[in-house]
Amino acid sequence: MTKTILLTGGTGFIGSHTAVEMIQEGYRIVLADDLSNSSRKVVDRIEEITGTRPAFYPIDVADREALRDLFSRERLDGVIHFAGFKAVGESTEKPLDYYENNLGATMNLLRVMEEFGVKTIVFSSSATVYGQGGLMPCTETMPRGVCVNPYGWTKSMSEQILTDASAADPDLSVVLLRYFNPIGAHPSGLIGEDPQGIPNNLMPFVAQVAVGRREELTIFGNDYDTPDGTCRRDYIHVCDLAEGHVKAIAFGEGRKGVEVFNLGTGTPYSVLEVVETFARVSGVSVPWRFGPRRAGDLPDLWADPAKATEVLGWKAGRTLEDMCRDAWNWQRNNPRGYEGEE
Ligand code: UFG
Repeated sequence: MTKTILLTGGTGFIGSHTAVEMIQEGYRIVLADDLSNSSRKVVDRIEEITGTRPAFYPIDVADREALRDLFSRERLDGVIHFAGFKAVGESTEKPLDYYENNLGATMNLLRVMEEFGVKTIVFSSSATVYGQGGLMPCTETMPRGVCVNPYGWTKSMSEQILTDASAADPDLSVVLLRYFNPIGAHPSGLIGEDPQGIPNNLMPFVAQVAVGRREELTIFGNDYDTPDGTCRRDYIHVCDLAEGHVKAIAFGEGRKGVEVFNLGTGTPYSVLEVVETFARVSGVSVPWRFGPRRAGDLPDLWADPAKATEVLGWKAGRTLEDMCRDAWNWQRNNPRGYEGEE
């Protein structure tokens, strides 16, 4: 029987790619998103790629009545919870907005799930919950650390809320997915990352420089204790990440308790390596200069993804070249993002 899964934040970068993978795996998908940081056009693009139009509710997940209404119309088998504010810098300026929105959404969702007897949730967490410990690679057995910004704390606290809810409800199944650095785009070039304003993250910034929307990239710091002096991260193709969610929801269904998985490749690349690879595969020059360090950046951050391979049978297979090629394909086809078309 076809399973129906709700994706909160379903029109966002990771949500939209996960929707495509889930539909292609035979799931029925319901998207909920208030469109505060995404476009309605994503729904059309998902339909264009898969041939199936997902149900879409333009609601705020923190709105109890709106969420109840959704749950009463759809018979849900599980939820993947992506919805949340995610700009690290902004979270330090508006901490209360971040705590209210991100924690409010998680708690509201758990309340409504309880009311309607929905027992499976996969949560969109982040490697940021490991804090500043510095031991690499990160393994799931390490304790969560001290976060350096409110955004990170909302992920860490949401993990705690979900863990406590699961301890109190023996029928609840919680899967916490800790993403490393998702980049790239669907190879069709129809969906991809479309940040509002000046991108905070490396890949969308690089892609916007390549397409001529920004003049040059500033590389934040070249005096780190790393092989080339720039920070290293575990970049993962968003389609690999999306496949991890398909495995996670299947794993979570019908079990009980909490399980945590890192989703990364296990191989770190430096900022310079990413920029050089992007320029090589796109054939477009990406002007850059070194600037000062950015507050809160760790020199190194990468995953030990062994548990996800052993338990979920999942492995990230796409290379850094694939990630750069697909990010460029998306940017070139949609130079101004979703809203730029027509
Ligand atoms: N960088 C630049 N110039 C830029 C943007 C980024 O040099 O214009 C560098 C950063 O200093 C860092 C690397 O590129 O060394 C990656 O930066 P991102 O902002 O793309 O990603 P982060 O690793 O800082 O952040 C990501 C996620 C967060 C998450 C964090 C920790 O975006 O959601 O990992 O897990 F909290």
